[in-house]
Amino acid sequence: LENGVARTPPMGWNSWNTFGCNINETLIRQMADAIVNSGMRDLGYQYVVVDDCWFNPNRDSAGNLQGDPSRFPSGMKALGDYLHSRNLKFGIYQVPVDKTCAQYFNSYPGATGSQGHEAQDARQFAAWGVDYLKYDWCSPNGTINDQVATFAKMRDALAATGRPIVYSINPNSIHAKTGPQRNWGDVANMWRTTEDITNAWDTGQTNGYPMGIQNIVNVTVPLAGYAAPGRFNDPDMLEVGRGGMNDTEMRSHFALWAIMASPLIAGNDIRSQSSATATILKNQNLIAINQDTLGLQATQVSNDGTRRVLAKRLANGDVAVALFNQGGSTTTVSTTAAAIGKSGSSFTLRDAWTNTTSTTSGTISASVPAHGTVVYRVSGGGTSTPSTPPSSSSTLVSAA
Ligand code: GLA
Repeated sequence: LENGVARTPPMGWNSWNTFGCNINETLIRQMADAIVNSGMRDLGYQYVVVDDCWFNPNRDSAGNLQGDPSRFPSGMKALGDYLHSRNLKFGIYQVPVDKTCAQYFNSYPGATGSQGHEAQDARQFAAWGVDYLKYDWCSPNGTINDQVATFAKMRDALAATGRPIVYSINPNSIHAKTGPQRNWGDVANMWRTTEDITNAWDTGQTNGYPMGIQNIVNVTVPLAGYAAPGRFNDPDMLEVGRGGMNDTEMRSHFALWAIMASPLIAGNDIRSQSSATATILKNQNLIAINQDTLGLQATQVSNDGTRRVLAKRLANGDVAVALFNQGGSTTTVSTTAAAIGKSGSSFTLRDAWTNTTSTTSGTISASVPAHGTVVYRVSGGGTSTPSTPPSSSSTLVSAA
């Protein structure tokens, strides 16, 4: 979406993965402080997104949304002001239908979706200083055509406010998971590619609830052509630091999200994160690959079912390559400079995890533990541009 924001994948934090409906203004402020104090803000994590359950179940007499008076007693504008005072940005959750996901499934009271209130709610968000809207189609009803029209309605309502607001949509939780994957870049800055993520490596789902890391990668890799500045596939929020996976898997998760040009929205409790978690979330080599100004998502070079290789061309002519071991035991994953679009006979490989360099005349290879991902930034030689530029059309393709 060409609205001036999200020229690189948005980075930040969201309350849902760890806290669900148990949120309040003190928690959000503490998290904002932790994002600043941990150094994460200065590495790019700037959007603090208040997910479902922030609202009063009743609109006011003029039909305006209101914050829950007991958990957000200072009001939503004050929360936005606090975040802005910390040089952070304010994100909020809403739905295009009648009920939010928690109102449908978690027995949160009310029916405060934006349906029929789009322009009013967009103006309200802008007045509160909202910089990012997560707009979640959490309804069992509707068709893909309903989704396009309805998500476009809020796109236009946000534009009419004049405030630059990242537009993050979820067309995939309920309805479209059974259908083809649309390129939503004409509608939103980022769009979910799958059902909800969970803190597990593999749940066995192809696109059902809940999705593990491997399952989401399988759906999102084929959609690489959709990504460009202002428009990114969203394989959902990070589960780094939330248990359920070993350190190798946590690192792999982050590395794959980084090279897939995915939004990097942390979902852990930043206040109490371990140093191992902080080291992953703060990996500057991977953040630089993710935030590269070309905005390309890594494309698949090869996949034999166990060894999967992805490559992402970068603005300075370097190419980032991921050597991903999908199997259950250590194996060597290999590719070549030529296969990732490099020409020449001498290259430098910088390992994103160890930050050490080595040289090669063409072979790119590593011993990778089970479920691990080694990432190299490959420099030297020339770089070919892909023969087909990234798709910006709205063509429907199957994600299968
Ligand atoms: C859906 C979304 C989640 C979260 C919840 C909130 O499940 O996919 O990311 O926002 O709703 O209820």
